[in-house]
Amino acid sequence: MSNRLSVTPNDLRAFWMPFTANRQFKQNPRMFVASRGMHYTTADGREVLDGTAGLWCVNAGHCRPKITEAIQRQAAELDYAPAFQMGHPKAFELANRLVDISPDGLNHVFFTNSGSESVDTALKIALAYHRVRGEGSRFRLIGRERGYHGVNFGGISVGGIVANRKMFGTLLTGVDHLQHTHLPARNRFVRGEPEHGAELADELERIVALHDASTIAAVIVEPVAGSTGVLIPPKGYLKRLREICDKHGILLIFDEVITGYGRLGASFAAEYFEVTPDIITTAKGLTNGVIPMGAVFVRDEIHDAFMTGPEHLIEFFHGYTYSGNPIASAAGLATLDTYREEGLFERATELAPYWEDALHSLKDARHVIDIRNIGLIGAVELEPIAGHPTKRAFSAFVRAFEKGILIRTTGDIIALSPPLIIEKPHIDQLVATLREVLAEVE
Ligand SMILES: Cc1ncc(COP(=O)(O)O)c(C=O)c1O
Repeated sequence: MSNRLSVTPNDLRAFWMPFTANRQFKQNPRMFVASRGMHYTTADGREVLDGTAGLWCVNAGHCRPKITEAIQRQAAELDYAPAFQMGHPKAFELANRLVDISPDGLNHVFFTNSGSESVDTALKIALAYHRVRGEGSRFRLIGRERGYHGVNFGGISVGGIVANRKMFGTLLTGVDHLQHTHLPARNRFVRGEPEHGAELADELERIVALHDASTIAAVIVEPVAGSTGVLIPPKGYLKRLREICDKHGILLIFDEVITGYGRLGASFAAEYFEVTPDIITTAKGLTNGVIPMGAVFVRDEIHDAFMTGPEHLIEFFHGYTYSGNPIASAAGLATLDTYREEGLFERATELAPYWEDALHSLKDARHVIDIRNIGLIGAVELEPIAGHPTKRAFSAFVRAFEKGILIRTTGDIIALSPPLIIEKPHIDQLVATLREVLAEVE
């Protein structure tokens, strides 16, 4: 009790922050107290330009009135409805609106609350699908080195970021990994898709030869690997992966938690790269980041394979208390309206060349060893400080915040993914400030 009384509102100790250097943060906190459009406001009243759409999620910009009002209305009308054996209209309406913009044939949606849950849901659907149609021997899941698929056990098992995996025991068994697609010796300062590396998809043939196709359920990849520092697929790589999966009856899952909802200018990266997977995982931009929600898109044949047996029985033993939550559904509908009414996906396509030129103008900036871009995504890779990996990029992140821009860093890579409402002067500001920051950091 005495301990409790000592906790003041400004005490930062209780909150164990996610993916954060807690001790560094708490000594020198970076707090946002408001947001609007392209900007955050800090606790000390400064405006910070959002170069990362929050965490790759606020695609329509901050505090958009239509979304705010939809949430307020829904909270006052129907706050919660049980997700199991009961429904409410907005979840169905949202699913229908989503399949309107999904690739052909992916006409069913399973709702979750996050990207991590979407990934684990997709993996479970893949495993169960093979089992319901009598191929239960297909239990293996194939991910890729440097892949990020969230933080749940399925996701970190197929994921390939070492720090996210090494502390957590044996993870899922029966998982193998493709090689990542980053070839800095051959592809450097590339604009868009790199020329070299499509053949890396053939790694899947090696894995099939090792394990036999009859044991492999699915391959999961991010079409553009984001969290590892923006790795753009080599030209033809994803098509080749699709062909090899088809040849061996393996499901292909695209994790579009970052690339979904306009980041590349198309609704989904599947459309952008003209490769249709069997399952797509999404979250983030689905509700503009405002309310947690994810959606897994599933091909008709997969969904239909479950719809057998007595009709009073549950077909798939999976779901979350908040799957299709009414307030999240209302936010999703208002978000899709905002994207459409403001033509934000088209806007991303229009701005992409300007974005590309602006980013690549940093080629001669201090510390820069590579620049990559696609759609409204960009990465500036820095030479690490010898013996202190990540330190230079972290210093750049802190300095950038002090100078009024929000960037994100992973390893020694600066990743950028602004809201799709960004204007050209904002792009200029981001790039000019980054140049200053790079000149200043050790
Ligand atoms: C490709 C990908 N998958 C999954 C996730 C996990 O999403 P969440 O943090 O909502 O669980 C992320 C988050 O950045 C992601 O980029």
